[in-house]
Amino acid sequence: MTIGIIDSGLGGYSIFHALHQAYPNVAFHFLADQKNAPYGNKTALEIQTIATKNIQWFIDHDIHEIVIACNTMNAVALPILKERFPSVLFHEVVEPTIEQIPNDTKSILVVATKLTIQSEIYTKALRQRFPMMKIHATILPELVSMVEGMRSQEDMQTYIGQILSLESLSADALILGCTHYPLARPAFNQVFKQNIYDSIQVMVHRFKDKELLEGETKCFTTKDAIYAHIQVKELFQSDVEFTKIEVDHETDPRR
Ligand code: DGL
Repeated sequence: MTIGIIDSGLGGYSIFHALHQAYPNVAFHFLADQKNAPYGNKTALEIQTIATKNIQWFIDHDIHEIVIACNTMNAVALPILKERFPSVLFHEVVEPTIEQIPNDTKSILVVATKLTIQSEIYTKALRQRFPMMKIHATILPELVSMVEGMRSQEDMQTYIGQILSLESLSADALILGCTHYPLARPAFNQVFKQNIYDSIQVMVHRFKDKELLEGETKCFTTKDAIYAHIQVKELFQSDVEFTKIEVDHETDPRR
């Protein structure tokens, strides 16, 4: 069966790219909902509506196993998606990301979108696992747009440096709690000198022992197929064609 991967854009492409490299013959269909990016600055209800439509699109294409390659969707829509689509097998990113954190970590900085930080999904999960840990959680509201706009690492470093407090920068570890942020990894490496964790390789690991069906891989975007092609060529050196699709996000799916 084909495996779907969904995100608002390039963050999900990082996970798709890593999965495709690790399992080159497996059928993955990646959907970049770039028309609605950035997700993180919308409301939870908007993301629930958008996510429901996108999952329905996968189901209409006979895809029933889906990687939610998006922390924001994970944080504010996954419980509802599980309820609305009980037959779909969802793979989430937050828990696998946290599972990498070593037990002796005393303080941590989580950076993510507004919706992810406000949902406290990371803070609560970390608190449960590490009751004594000092947790800093910071929103980087412009970083997804900067990544999608292919801004330079220097620009992103300046932006990150302006927002993160000196105290948070001295934490033992940093979680990139948005799948877009690994694309600003060189910028983060300049401002944060301790260990940095993201969700890419852990998601690859998730599929290690699974029996995966061979098939065709395809990429879709809800915005501009030519621009998406240029983005992944520039950022991943991938020569991948995107197909533009329409997903009707306007109507309330519960009606
Ligand atoms: N890459 C997604 C995430 O992990 C969505 C970012 C956005 O569109 O704001 O949160």
